[in-house]
Amino acid sequence: MHHHLYACSRVYYFVSFFFGTSLKKQKQGFKNIPIPNGKVPYFGHLFALMRSSITVQTAQWQKELGSIMKIYVGVQPWIVVGDPYLAHEILAVNGSIASNRPYTTFSHDIYAPNQRVLHMVSSKTTADERYRMQEMEADALIERLLQHTESVNGDKEINILPHFQLVFANVIFTMMYGCQRMTSIDDPMFKRIEAIMAEGLANVNIMKELKVFLSIFSFIDYLFSHATMKWVVQDLANPLYLSLIKDALENGDPHCLVNQLKQMDHVDYDEILVTVSDLAIAGTDTPAIETMWTILILCCYQEAQQVLHDKVDTFISKHNRLPTFNDREKLPNLISTQKECMRFRPPVFYGLLHETSRDRSIIASNMRAMHMNSDIYEESEKFCQDRFINKSNKTMSALANGKIQERDQYTYGWGRRLCPGAHLAEVQIFSILVRLVAKLKIEPRIDPQGNLVFPDLDKLHEAGVMVIPTDRNVCITKRTDSLL
Ligand code: HEM
Repeated sequence: MHHHLYACSRVYYFVSFFFGTSLKKQKQGFKNIPIPNGKVPYFGHLFALMRSSITVQTAQWQKELGSIMKIYVGVQPWIVVGDPYLAHEILAVNGSIASNRPYTTFSHDIYAPNQRVLHMVSSKTTADERYRMQEMEADALIERLLQHTESVNGDKEINILPHFQLVFANVIFTMMYGCQRMTSIDDPMFKRIEAIMAEGLANVNIMKELKVFLSIFSFIDYLFSHATMKWVVQDLANPLYLSLIKDALENGDPHCLVNQLKQMDHVDYDEILVTVSDLAIAGTDTPAIETMWTILILCCYQEAQQVLHDKVDTFISKHNRLPTFNDREKLPNLISTQKECMRFRPPVFYGLLHETSRDRSIIASNMRAMHMNSDIYEESEKFCQDRFINKSNKTMSALANGKIQERDQYTYGWGRRLCPGAHLAEVQIFSILVRLVAKLKIEPRIDPQGNLVFPDLDKLHEAGVMVIPTDRNVCITKRTDSLL
């Protein structure tokens, strides 16, 4: 339940710290923001953050200190916000001064030497055509998963991440380059993409950004991190992207993103490279990891999965086909489940950082704290499949662009920097979910003693900005009672 008044008064109180007209007032406010214990000279809270997980530790601090706190990443203070109303006020309402990205070695020196221009150019296709392309990728995924379960003969445990990465990589790469789709996780091009994703994520990491935050360590940082980062971009990613750009420009679909960008006057070759690089990583791993969380959650909550089986089966019996994204309002349980999975286990812990243009404060939105905030969600720690069932059926991306009071969850970020791929991801995950529940069953694995082993949803690993489940082996089998 939303406690609007409570949230509003806090928002008013804290926002005056940031955007008050008097500098003196601002400085006093800044000083009053609580700082968690565990800060040490030079390193700030780095050790405290490294001890457990950033997600869990900062959610815990936020519980103790309230909806806004200041942590030190090295010598650099970050304002961490755990209340969505406050985050909305700071990052969306005041978006004109709170929408820069802070400097990090990887994203500025190496990846984006110039001020980036991010274009999410919608292709010349209609929404329905795009949905069909996305459904085709979801069909191909189900086919691959089925083949896998048939070929492994009894051992149906499967590492699902590469399969989901392939779906999203195909969608984003065909949109960007109009290139051939990849048909298997063993495809050499997919292997390269998978390696770029893994290395890229490991390098967009606050712990690796010591040079920025701890000036005395710049030499050590340079030796250990800079070379790896350069290698990732210059030797691993750029050669692949440059050859795909070249092919797209020479023979590609005129409607693909690269060719559309080329036609824009102010966009040069470097900007195309930066844009496709950003989109590749943002458009592949984040949604793949969210899909993985969703599958693991459904594995743990078998009754919730059964509800989806029943609802999708009812639709299929009535219409003699699978539901499309245009039919989503006929499946309120599925919409609610998709939203609840995103709330319960978002794939990012701070989203992407924002920086204010006025005093260069770095602002992080604490996704776990917001989504587990009991002032916002009843029984916030519980997975509740029906949580959003009597709320707006609008898409998460539409709600993210609307009033804060109506927003369902906050994982796509804020204001001017709101994720441009939100709708694409939502359609894709919907299409995958519909097919998965119609055709397959996700079950826990069985240990040698015959016990069911459910994935532990509290086991996670932070890589780059992502929160990745580590206990992720499940059994996927064909539904014997599938209507298709
Ligand atoms: C479940 C899926 C996804 C989640 C949870 C997600 C989340 C986010 C978040 C939190 C941000 C930062 C927002 C902020 O700063 O306030 C972001 C930015 C971004 N996302 Fe996504 N994203 C997802 C899927 C995608 C997809 C599929 C694409 C590409 C097609 C994409 C492309 C981008 C880009 C390019 C940015 C940077 C925008 C900017 O800097 O202005 N994302 N995303």
